[in-house]
Amino acid sequence: MRAAGCTAATILDRLCSFVRPGMNTWEIDEEGGSMMRDFGVKSACKGYRSGNRIFPSYTCLSVNDEVVHGIGLKDRVLKEGDVLSVDVCIRENGVIGDNCRTIPVGQVSPEIDRLLKVTEESLYVGLSMALHKKRVGDVSQAVQQYVEKAGFAVITNFVGHGVGRTLHEEPQIPNFGKAGTGPQFRKGMAICIEPMVNMKSPQIRMAKDGWTALAVDGMPSAHFEHTLLVDEGQPEILTIPEGAGNAEEYFQSKLSGLAA
Ligand code: MF3
Ligand code: CO
Repeated sequence: MRAAGCTAATILDRLCSFVRPGMNTWEIDEEGGSMMRDFGVKSACKGYRSGNRIFPSYTCLSVNDEVVHGIGLKDRVLKEGDVLSVDVCIRENGVIGDNCRTIPVGQVSPEIDRLLKVTEESLYVGLSMALHKKRVGDVSQAVQQYVEKAGFAVITNFVGHGVGRTLHEEPQIPNFGKAGTGPQFRKGMAICIEPMVNMKSPQIRMAKDGWTALAVDGMPSAHFEHTLLVDEGQPEILTIPEGAGNAEEYFQSKLSGLAA
């Protein structure tokens, strides 16, 4: 899972650097698919089944008020000031690496910038609680409080999850809830924490495509995700890109970067 996490994070990094205003989300998805082929790994999104629906893209690309599970489309053209959530989820040697980041397309407004920063910070706040013998609700409450104190709204329709040989395993990890409740974490558990945050209302609705979740308030939405391994002192982030240091260094550099 370390290898799968590293591949997922490296592809996410490179794909985010590839994005420019004027591109459409289909070409970004094709680039993601091509990177997966270069690494010799498979997308865990393409072909993902939910009921009788099959997800068509290599990656999930969600623009502005699209919260999650956006599909790459030729007529979805990015412009300066948009935000794009890039969700890269792969299978390597039978196990999953899953991670996501919301990036600004060119310059965005200060309030949108704050949304991205608060959402990323809430991921690390939650992550810090995913420790041996703590409970799922400890992560949930930490994320929710952090987001709501900043004046934003945490989404309740989608949750983080256990992960391993399949993408969505037990337990569910909501981004809202009460500390001290829910299943207990154990050293060695692999989980995905993924806060999804709206600016005003937590309400979402489904687009006609049956996949894309949209913010009802029509405002930009943000989503950050890591795959990690529960441990005692500090969790081990698995979705660390090549060359970004070891898990401890990466975690510390993120924490100090976000505090600045
Ligand atoms: N990171 C997303 C999740 O955990 C990946 C979804 S794949 C999709 O839900 F096929 F459902 F889009
Ligand atoms: Co996930």
